[in-house]
Amino acid sequence: MSELSAGFLDKIKRVKKMTDSQEEVEGAMTPLQLYERLNAQGEQVRCLKTAKAEKAEIDVAVQLLLKLKTDYKHLTGQDYKAGCPPPENVVNQDNGAATDGIDEEDNVDPWNVSTSNAKGVDYDKLIVRFGSSKIETELVDRIEKVTGQKPHRFLRRGIFFSHRDMHQVLDAYEKNKSFYLYTGRGPSSEAMHVGHLIPFIFTKWLQDVFDIPLVIQLTDDEKYLWKDLAIEECHRFAVENAKDIIACGFDVNKTFIFSDFDYMGSSPEFYRNVVKIQKHVTYNQVKGIFGFKDSDCIGKISFPAIQAAPSFSNSFPQIFGGRKDVQCLIPCAIDQDPYFRMTRDVAPRIGYPKPALLHSSFFPALQGAQTKMSASDANSSIFLTDTPKQIKNKINKHAFSGGKDTIEEHRKFGGNPDVDVSFMYLTFFLDDDEQLEKIKQDYSSGALLTGELKKILIETLQPMIAQHQERRKQVTEETVKQFMTPRPLNFKL
Ligand code: TRP
Repeated sequence: MSELSAGFLDKIKRVKKMTDSQEEVEGAMTPLQLYERLNAQGEQVRCLKTAKAEKAEIDVAVQLLLKLKTDYKHLTGQDYKAGCPPPENVVNQDNGAATDGIDEEDNVDPWNVSTSNAKGVDYDKLIVRFGSSKIETELVDRIEKVTGQKPHRFLRRGIFFSHRDMHQVLDAYEKNKSFYLYTGRGPSSEAMHVGHLIPFIFTKWLQDVFDIPLVIQLTDDEKYLWKDLAIEECHRFAVENAKDIIACGFDVNKTFIFSDFDYMGSSPEFYRNVVKIQKHVTYNQVKGIFGFKDSDCIGKISFPAIQAAPSFSNSFPQIFGGRKDVQCLIPCAIDQDPYFRMTRDVAPRIGYPKPALLHSSFFPALQGAQTKMSASDANSSIFLTDTPKQIKNKINKHAFSGGKDTIEEHRKFGGNPDVDVSFMYLTFFLDDDEQLEKIKQDYSSGALLTGELKKILIETLQPMIAQHQERRKQVTEETVKQFMTPRPLNFKL
């Protein structure tokens, strides 16, 4: 028998074993388990057909596959689709909210974000699809009550719009049980743009109002695996990006920033968690979640375990002294959610609490909200290194306008702030709610022209970026080293 066909038979046996052993628990399966069971059954049918097995045997396998599909539909209210795992908390909804053709045009994963809608991605539908929860006014009010601080504009305006388990975090916090923050960045180039600051600006606010420790992962390993870059380059970008992150104002006594290349090799506890996670997530699962192909290198396939590990407090013994039960809260853009769906799925199976999440919407490209800002297209972004003149020119030339073609028409019919990129940017950066509301009214009525709106944005961004550049200049190599050295942090849990 050739090695290949031996491998095939072995595979059939393995798949069969997996499916058989799960038979008895089928009634109690979660949507994700049933989904994986379906993946396995689909694979078995394919293997049998390829191996030219007996027709009767294939028929039995196909019948079981069909039955599982019916069960899946029953359990989740959705059709099973390979490569499309069920959202975390999906339940069968008779109103069909989860199945109404879920925006085929919205494409959101860690590597791509695009939509055909000028207003941007439909975030309400994304919440249904991902199975997360909407950040309702009630939650924002509660955060205000618990912290005694006015909620950040990103919360007031729904820029952070979705969460997982935030109420649980607040319940515990009210009982004096603290938590820690974890966020990160993939250092793919030296140049960061204003969109990259969103999670960091918000995380800094969370750190201040809750007074808690923070770990920031710089995934230089991820960028090495995904991009055509040398290891040294990725590591250098990590250190350069750390300077921009530090310039957001993080407290050095409460913040640990690490490069994966540096920290993974120096921390046995971190690496043990990585391997624990690797042992408890199957290839089928990551294939389903991330769409990996057979031709992807094995580094990519195991990488999600590395992004998951910082969600567990014993990955940082120097900070948490070996405690494994400190709750983690992850503020991130919604495209990172697949990593943390996987993390939340394994957590209880390896004896750790599930991390809670706060998800942000995307920062739109200058050309419009159909896609997010990209660091590789100079004209789609406002960089943290741009001069006042560059900022002015980019906005005037490239910011997609919701205004009318002529002044007469604009005065008569008014502009559309919902698709206007300058207005969208102001919702991110102009802190004064009343002023923002007035701009919206005036733009919609036609009293405010596109040029005038752009001028307000330019005058908001120019000083903001100049101040960032000033703060970044103050960040010395010594400061970076301090932030990036594993050490105890100053806080009480
Ligand atoms: N994968 C992320 C990126 O490419 C970086 C990252 C690592 C991250 N850990 C994170 C982002 C935690 C948010 C939260 O940008």
